[in-house]
Amino acid sequence: MIPYGKHHVDEEDIKSVIKVLKSDNLTQGPLIDAFEKEISKYVGAKYSVALTSCTAGLHLAAIVSKINKGKVLLTSPITFVATANSSLYCNGETIFADIDSSTINISIDSIKKIISQKKIHAIAPVHFGGLPCNMKKIKEIADEVGAIIYEDAAHAFGASFPDGSKVGSCKYSDMTIFSFHPVKSIATGEGGVVTTNDKYLYERLLRLRNHGIEKNQDDFQSKNNSITNGINNPWYYEMQELGYHYRITDIQCALGLSQLKKIDKFIMKRRELAKKYDLAFENLKNCEPIQKNMRDFSSNHLYILRINFKKLSKTRASLMEELKNVGIMTQVHYIPVILHPYFQKKGYKDDNFSNSYNYYNNALSIPLFYDLTDKEQSHVINQIKKLVG
Ligand SMILES: Cc1ncc(COP(=O)(O)O)c(C=O)c1O
Repeated sequence: MIPYGKHHVDEEDIKSVIKVLKSDNLTQGPLIDAFEKEISKYVGAKYSVALTSCTAGLHLAAIVSKINKGKVLLTSPITFVATANSSLYCNGETIFADIDSSTINISIDSIKKIISQKKIHAIAPVHFGGLPCNMKKIKEIADEVGAIIYEDAAHAFGASFPDGSKVGSCKYSDMTIFSFHPVKSIATGEGGVVTTNDKYLYERLLRLRNHGIEKNQDDFQSKNNSITNGINNPWYYEMQELGYHYRITDIQCALGLSQLKKIDKFIMKRRELAKKYDLAFENLKNCEPIQKNMRDFSSNHLYILRINFKKLSKTRASLMEELKNVGIMTQVHYIPVILHPYFQKKGYKDDNFSNSYNYYNNALSIPLFYDLTDKEQSHVINQIKKLVG
């Protein structure tokens, strides 16, 4: 079976992890800091906070953005539910703007329209499939109304903006959050990171990932409890706010550091594979690739075909089954968040999202990952040509 996405783990990765397993620190050793420094260097941000997942990062980003009851987060319905949930975890509200049909990213016009009608506290643009949103425009709009921006870059580690800066540099945002789940650009098992250039946000994120505990004696709030006869109590730490256990481990960071060394070749290979698909599917009657124009900027996390199932006289489910029968796994990214029963029960209305629904009804993600061989890719191409045409 050819999966739609898969990690690449080599001997170097395995050796790096084994080294940690033989060391004194499995969890909170030196590799977390080392991984964070390398991430910051790679994306060009001042600070990074590595966490158990991108979801954890989105949650903490919502907290430090001061989302709470009555505050509204604006995002795209074509995303994984985690983006929308980040605000809900903080008792905030999440509302959605329709997507742009060609990029599948949040539509600038739709953001403008919503912002003119409703007070938005924060915007979470999603770099869908690894294709960077027009952050320059989004920042201009956000600045006009004083909204915070945290970028959901779960798909976009290794992607760049047209000005050459990297997604994660936070040139146009307050924070950027990546995922290192195995199908993403690099893997730590589960894992994620928040990058920022803001020292205050950085220090709060660090504290919140560890139960809200402060260990730096200069920042202790209770001098009475932290000092005995003028000398610092060596065991002392203090919980200063309600935090979480979102700590990543040294084992994961060893894998992340080793994977990070290969990021350029990972991105290049994905780009090559995507361009090969683009060429192969150029003149098909019933389908076309999406996001074709931004291959050189995108991390090309997903390869998605827009298929005219009506014209094809076939359902998506039956096509998926036919492809599965010839060894090809496919997936749909994503069910519009508002369609999930949880959101429906909350009273989300289905209107105003025609681009999102049109996209969703016709989308199919086909295999794209570093280890996809020429032979496997040719098989996928031939089968798509045969079954979709
Ligand atoms: C757009 C998007 N945001 C957030 C997440 C959550 O990432 P994680 O699984 O690392 O929590 C995902 C996961 O696939 C995603 O696709």
